[in-house]
Amino acid sequence: MMKRKHLDEISWEDFNNLSLEEKAPYLVQANGRPFHTLFAQQFDREQLDRLCDLATRIRRISKHREGVKFLGDLLCHKRAMLYFSQPSSRTFLSFYAACQILGFRIAEVRDPSISSEMKGESREDSIRTFSSYFDMIIMRSPLQGLAEKMAWLLSNTNRPLPIINAGSGKDQHPTQALLDIYTLVLSFEKRGGLANKHILFCGDLARGRTVRSLALLLTNYSNISMTFAAPDQLQIGKDILEQLDNAGVKYELTSNFKDAIPQADAVYMTRIQDEWDTKPGESSHIDLTQYSFTGDDLKRLPMYSIIMHPLPRRTEIDTACDNDPRAMYWRQMRNGMWIRSALIATNFGRDDEITQYYMKNLK
Ligand code: NCD
Repeated sequence: MMKRKHLDEISWEDFNNLSLEEKAPYLVQANGRPFHTLFAQQFDREQLDRLCDLATRIRRISKHREGVKFLGDLLCHKRAMLYFSQPSSRTFLSFYAACQILGFRIAEVRDPSISSEMKGESREDSIRTFSSYFDMIIMRSPLQGLAEKMAWLLSNTNRPLPIINAGSGKDQHPTQALLDIYTLVLSFEKRGGLANKHILFCGDLARGRTVRSLALLLTNYSNISMTFAAPDQLQIGKDILEQLDNAGVKYELTSNFKDAIPQADAVYMTRIQDEWDTKPGESSHIDLTQYSFTGDDLKRLPMYSIIMHPLPRRTEIDTACDNDPRAMYWRQMRNGMWIRSALIATNFGRDDEITQYYMKNLK
């Protein structure tokens, strides 16, 4: 378990210059539970196992009216702010639903053009304003590192509340990685768990933040191997490969996606992230025909393997695959609601109560 350090005892410059591993102990509470959720490297295996178990308990408790009432009472005295200054459907709604499950009252700012940012207010002042009214801020931003900066900023005020990064630029999407891990854990429950599995990533791996966060979280499981299939321009970043090297993870880079399918336990498809093009339309010239999963590919995918996608999809998974039992992307999306409730319940120290209720009423 990580030793607690205090975010208000370090300057922003000094904190910002630390490695992510060095930053991680600043994000936990005295009792070892995560407080802020900012990047994948802050989670260890013990925390991941606890969150997955708690998500399953919440899911099962939610099947009963009494259980829904119990969960909905846990944090009914708290308010959450969803501050999303980048497009989102799933992540926004899944956090919204996760907060509702736990009884939060919720407000949202999704369009900074109708907020005081248009009057010239800094993001820092906006966040301080939200912190006056709310008990948690869930934020998505095109800017890498903004959530970290805000967590640091608030720690130096009298309202140091939890910040959850719901997607930061091209860099990280830690809670998507949590729901991806939860989906993999559930899918391989009867096949010896996640250890020893081979994950095949395909698509825009250079700019896809979900792949970057998931590849890092996977280093917590033993003997995982990965293949990254992408055209050269869209191949996974060297910074991620370095961290995989440090963790001793075996991986391979290829431009031949189709040949890698028969060896995959999970195929993780992604869309082209052309909103990051430096010149509009520049990635429309990249030939992506070999980087999609078609109805024919189902024949070459092993019987117990799964297909994942963080969504939204464009053409990279043929809709002909949607009703195949290996198509996991719809369930993956729903799993997000459970693991996000588990995370938030843990941030607010309600995890033990949920486990006690589960053991008493549903075990
Ligand atoms: C992803 C994202 O926003 O990074 N979507 C999501 O949160 N489920 C992937 C994407 O937009 O392609």
